[in-house]
Amino acid sequence: MTISDERTTHFGFQDVPESAKAGLVHGVFSSVAGRYDLMNDLMSGGMHRLWKDAMMDWLAPREGQRLLDVAGGTGDVAFRFLKRAPSARATVLDLTEAMLVEGRQRAEASAMAERLDWVAGDAMALPFAANTFDVYTISFGIRNVTRIADALAEAHRVLKPGGRLMVLEFSRIPNDLAQWAYDRYSFGVIPAMGQAVTGDRASYQYLVESIRKFPDQESFAAMIRSAGFTQVKYRNLTMGVAALHSGWKV
Ligand SMILES: C[S@@+](CC[C@H](N)C(=O)[O-])C[C@H]1O[C@@H](n2cnc3c(N)ncnc32)[C@H](O)[C@@H]1O
Repeated sequence: MTISDERTTHFGFQDVPESAKAGLVHGVFSSVAGRYDLMNDLMSGGMHRLWKDAMMDWLAPREGQRLLDVAGGTGDVAFRFLKRAPSARATVLDLTEAMLVEGRQRAEASAMAERLDWVAGDAMALPFAANTFDVYTISFGIRNVTRIADALAEAHRVLKPGGRLMVLEFSRIPNDLAQWAYDRYSFGVIPAMGQAVTGDRASYQYLVESIRKFPDQESFAAMIRSAGFTQVKYRNLTMGVAALHSGWKV
């Protein structure tokens, strides 16, 4: 295949060859890893913690379950899951080693070390056998993946029958005025904040652009159904700034 024949995808508002996207995303998260947790708190005013807690409330972790947290970054979701189910086990998988390094340095990681694995890998080609996990989570990760349908197919493959998928992702506010105000904040404030805190404006410009490119709640629910999941439902968080999507493998 020549370059001109290659399929393209979006990286924020840019069109790039599909084969280039993972490298660009890896560059973003390698650059921001050291300040990732701090920036999450600053940008969202701490809201991301409440959204992750809401994810746990709906997921209701149970003792003995095996969780795979894809694009798990610095471990926020896995730590919360293991706190609620002290005999569960979790695997955090991420494309960017620097994010996993930050996660492993957190106090929770050493306290939970025996129940936690950290794996470098790609959501589109998971290094696990079929029917392995009870729960698959991905939080603020799937919009960065080059082919979302491939990641959802992999989620379905590695879940056991009866297993559950839950996705936390930025979404669409179903109110034009509120969406306009939110866009003003996102595009006007976040890249400048990224520049001030991490010295990297471009990575945060990508962040806000990638949020706008991600499908709305109904379109994403349809993609989850197409991957074979049943009982697909979603809940808006903070008026739809973010949304949780849930589905089951039967
Ligand atoms: C915004 S962070 C989310 C981290 C964490 N889940 C959270 O909610 O705080 C996005 C993460 O997705 C990871 N990522 C992006 N593309 C990926 C892929 N194809 N496979 C696995 N991880 C990926 C990045 O390396 C980054 O750590």
